[in-house]
Amino acid sequence: MLLHIPHVLSPDQAVRMRQRLEAADWTDGRETVGAQGAKVKRNLQLPDASPLRDALAGEVLAALARNPLYHAATLPLRTLPPRFNRYEGGGEYGFHVDGAVMALPNGEQLRSDISCTLFLADPETYEGGELIVSDTYGEHEVKLPAGDLIVYPSSSLHRVAPVTRGTRLAAFFWVQSLIRDDVRRRMLLELDTSIQTLTRTGADAAAVLQLTGIYHNLLRQWAES
Ligand code: NI
Repeated sequence: MLLHIPHVLSPDQAVRMRQRLEAADWTDGRETVGAQGAKVKRNLQLPDASPLRDALAGEVLAALARNPLYHAATLPLRTLPPRFNRYEGGGEYGFHVDGAVMALPNGEQLRSDISCTLFLADPETYEGGELIVSDTYGEHEVKLPAGDLIVYPSSSLHRVAPVTRGTRLAAFFWVQSLIRDDVRRRMLLELDTSIQTLTRTGADAAAVLQLTGIYHNLLRQWAES
């Protein structure tokens, strides 16, 4: 499931984040990938240990915690603290699959079920830089307004097209979901969304209650931790 979640950050928040990132010290993005990624990755990243990365990651996580659609779509169990990257001057990231297991700061591990990219630069300010996700339905090009998020299955092949003008800034992170399977996750989101619509439009309360029970019982059947 490829899902666009708009307005995770307010326009003001995105501007402030961008200003702080523009003044930051960046390092080669190849420091955080394995051999497969290093061959095709040409971008810059904030160093993992940088205090700015810590501060901005905290801001992104707080914004996600306030976003009901993000929560309903990802059903997060563990989240890797966001990192920040920068593409310019022809920088790109060729086709790759994200690593399946990653180390969390507390020493635990995260299985990457969902990959997330939070766009931070206005799309008009740079050329190229589309996130291209390849799945069974073909290739999808994604380039979103600053503050908007795309979530997609970590199992998919994807790339970032070369940035030929301007600078593309983004935050990226991974989620281990309570629901490992993408198809089940999508069905739960659709059920959740339908229940909310029925509630809003004053549908029969007993029927809505029954559907709500089904949602939670499916989640109980399928959730793993
Ligand atoms: Ni990737």
